[in-house]
Amino acid sequence: MTQPHAKVIGWPIGHSRSPIIHRHWLGMHDIEGDYSAQDVAPEDLAGFVRTVGVDGLRGCNVTIPHKVAVMALADHVTPVARAIGAANTLWFADGALHATNTDVSGYMAHLSASAPELDLRDAHVLVFGAGGAARAIIYGLLRAGVRQIVVANRTRENVEKLQRDFGPQISHADDVEHALLQADLVVNTTSLGMVGQPALSCDVSLLKDTAVVSDIVYAPLETPMLSDARRRGLTTVDGLGMLLHQAVEGFALWFGVTPVVDATLRDKVVASLSQR
Ligand code: ATR
Repeated sequence: MTQPHAKVIGWPIGHSRSPIIHRHWLGMHDIEGDYSAQDVAPEDLAGFVRTVGVDGLRGCNVTIPHKVAVMALADHVTPVARAIGAANTLWFADGALHATNTDVSGYMAHLSASAPELDLRDAHVLVFGAGGAARAIIYGLLRAGVRQIVVANRTRENVEKLQRDFGPQISHADDVEHALLQADLVVNTTSLGMVGQPALSCDVSLLKDTAVVSDIVYAPLETPMLSDARRRGLTTVDGLGMLLHQAVEGFALWFGVTPVVDATLRDKVVASLSQR
């Protein structure tokens, strides 16, 4: 295939929503190209990566379990991917393979679109979870100038690792109630609240009236925490927007046009969620 195209690779790739997103934008911009999902086993990763840049393959999204391994196979890794320790986007340019992580730009773009009134400078943030998604969100929030990020997590050592990597603005949530009272923004980065999982325990009644509540879980679209927050009249930021916005940077790198996350795209992806 010589027409411009890109892929999402994983093992197993499962029901990735990325083809829906990128094909929507290819159609919007009248680009004769394609975007498809491909299973790539760990032992085949290096061989696959060598095909990026060949025969119209502009690049790819990378998902579990390749997000760390792929960095060692790229010629250039962006500072943001290095800081997070994982890459989700590859592209070929100037004779070299580049790797980056678009979760940061995706989350930050979605947050400012969904909660434009939230002033992140000097903000107090409470983050639930200390895994890969938390790292991306914490990196973005620190760069946006937040004052303090309190992290509540099942495993304390994982918070301590975040403290070592990101510095003294990160602290462990010894007192979650106090953190809720202070928070300008609360973010769930765990899988709690997802279909089939227990809800995250988060007493939104303690929050300030101006607090913003954000969840990265998007199945269901409205998690119990977001539903409680909405009923309290707080601004909520759902997880689907992060998925949609993180795709923008990759599409722009591969196809040369910066696409827009609009309601039509969102509706298409929402419809696909019910067809799981
Ligand atoms: P991701 O890349 O999506 O962030 P991850 O790196 O596996 O996934 O991180 C998942 C986060 O959710 C972790 O902080 C995890 O807590 P631990 O550090 O204690 O493992 C948290 N998490 C997952 N399932 C959980 C559960 N049932 N209860 C509480 N926390 C959970």
